[in-house]
Amino acid sequence: MLEQIKETASYIRAQITDIPKTAIILGTGLGALVDHIDEKQYIPYQEIPNFPISTVEGHSGNLIFGKLGNKRVMAMQGRFHFYEGYDMKQVTFPVRVMKELGIKTLFVSNAAGGMNPTFQIGDIMVINDHINLFPEHPLRGKNFTELGDRFPDMSEAYSHRLINAALNIAEEKGIRVVQGVYVGTQGPTFETPAEYRYFHRIGGDAVGMSTVPEVIVARHGGMEVFAVSVITDLGVEGIVEKVSHEEVQKAAQQAQPKMMEIMKELVNRV
Ligand code: HPA
Repeated sequence: MLEQIKETASYIRAQITDIPKTAIILGTGLGALVDHIDEKQYIPYQEIPNFPISTVEGHSGNLIFGKLGNKRVMAMQGRFHFYEGYDMKQVTFPVRVMKELGIKTLFVSNAAGGMNPTFQIGDIMVINDHINLFPEHPLRGKNFTELGDRFPDMSEAYSHRLINAALNIAEEKGIRVVQGVYVGTQGPTFETPAEYRYFHRIGGDAVGMSTVPEVIVARHGGMEVFAVSVITDLGVEGIVEKVSHEEVQKAAQQAQPKMMEIMKELVNRV
């Protein structure tokens, strides 16, 4: 694994002269942030040695390097989901490469179903903690101390410093944001009413099929992490409605400008 990480990182270094310290995983609801990145250089995932290839509709695959405001960033346009059939080492491989490239701060976005009864569709939820319910752990297997500790601390998986900065920005801009615990689950089914209820009762505010593996690996590597969910549907007790991929995309699309404004400002401020 170490050799693959190094090989991929040197392939990227050979093409990109000025590697940033900040990376963003553009999940559902933040794809259009790409339009705000200037002086873009693209590397399609297919061309990158050892990179998996994205398969889901609505997720194209490119690494993008450029400037977001005055900050140089590396963006992942499209991520790898466990439900697509990748194992956890593949899902999190790009985060390993980021670390090798010298990335210090990781920003992540996703779409999620809200279980907290105070949430509304279209809300932005700043993730303040997570519950990992994926059936495979990204750190299972031999630990390479070069990459991180065998038993990593997770007491502050989501940086309090970045959460506070994001909340300040939202307040200044008059954007409603909520905070909560993200439950990471394998999908690809959306939840049954009983599952939403269960995830809420164990302490979750929203549920989705991504983010947790990448965050675990980023923390293993010592990166500072910030993540947000756009609440695209509600799994609130008594009012669980039918949900589809299309509806999730549509709700995420509508919330996108708010999400983008916060992220752009946050990336530039920290
Ligand atoms: N459940 C799981 N993943 C999701 C949901 C949901 O309700 N909405 C968007 N991603």
